[in-house]
Amino acid sequence: MKIEFTEGKASALTFIWPDDWHTHVRDLEVMKAVVPITAKLFRRAVIMPNLVPAVSNLNMLKAYEERVLTAALLYPDFQPIMTLAITPKTTPADIKMCRRAGIRAAKLYPAHATTNSKEGVAHIRSLAPIFCEMEGVEMILLLHGETLRFPNGNRVSPFKKETVFVQTELPWILENFPKLKVVLEHITTAEAAELVLSNKYPNLAATITPHHLIYDVCDLFEGGFQSAFFCLPVLKDTSDKEALRRAATSGHPRIFIGTDSAPHSLAKKTDPCGCAAGVFVGSAALSMYVQVFDEMNALENLESFLSFNGPRFYGMAMNDNFIRLVRKPWRAEPPMRISGEGEFWQFGHRPGENMSQEFEWTMESKLAA
Ligand code: NCD
Ligand code: ZN
Repeated sequence: MKIEFTEGKASALTFIWPDDWHTHVRDLEVMKAVVPITAKLFRRAVIMPNLVPAVSNLNMLKAYEERVLTAALLYPDFQPIMTLAITPKTTPADIKMCRRAGIRAAKLYPAHATTNSKEGVAHIRSLAPIFCEMEGVEMILLLHGETLRFPNGNRVSPFKKETVFVQTELPWILENFPKLKVVLEHITTAEAAELVLSNKYPNLAATITPHHLIYDVCDLFEGGFQSAFFCLPVLKDTSDKEALRRAATSGHPRIFIGTDSAPHSLAKKTDPCGCAAGVFVGSAALSMYVQVFDEMNALENLESFLSFNGPRFYGMAMNDNFIRLVRKPWRAEPPMRISGEGEFWQFGHRPGENMSQEFEWTMESKLAA
């Protein structure tokens, strides 16, 4: 990575093109609007399968990949990395067939844990034959790591769901399937960060979103409930955010970017009968991550987090082109109007306020090798 300085302060960064190891691009008209936002910033992106119905077999995966590639026609370098949704109906034969067809990862949502997860799995331990097959064919398990209920049926607090998962189901998976590579997606707690950092499980990695590195539960409730910040797992305490910031910027090889950019219409984000979970990070992603590394005086570890660690864990080649960011106030994108779907606000758009104050870095260009 090349860091340029102006008057002793970093002013421009040039480094290998990053990838996004966790994003939601949805389908149809929304997908057409969202894919270019991702493809502008990232070379590759792991595409989450939580459509309705879930992308849960090879035919659906191939058809979805085609649609994503069509939406990215103006970005011929962009490569989607498709993921299979694990449902109670998934069989070891499905896993084998997908892996043979080049699918590298499958996503497990606990049933009803988050947006579009009703086809998820209620009893994780019933998936032992699936995990066994994944271990054998070297398919990566991507986890939405939250436990919704205790064994006695009582509900787990939203602030404890990840911690309970990290203390119960996660060790069960890692200890019974020690060769299975596991990504704990969008971690939000000190417990999760510390488990990865401890190196107790060499096949355990984690992604961290930019919003969980910058905001916490105080922001979620500052001046009233802030629906733009509502996502799952929910923003946690300031101490959790601090632990995530230390983990992300530590240079640890199994902690990497995953924006969890999750578009929802303004109507769904502000629905009085229930706010949709998901932050539409969109074009703010890199500015937010760089901000954190800069604030933590850890710019030297930025490229590992954004561009090296993900491909290494997935067993893929590193990108060979470069990207350049400059210290220049970032500007939020205006709302998008998507035909038949309503208005979509990317992160940072707040009428009457100037969010550009908050992020100091802007992507200038992607550069050829
Ligand atoms: C995601 C979505 O909207 O699809 N929502 C979220 O709050 N993160 C799903 C997910 O990743 O949990
Ligand atoms: Zn997600």
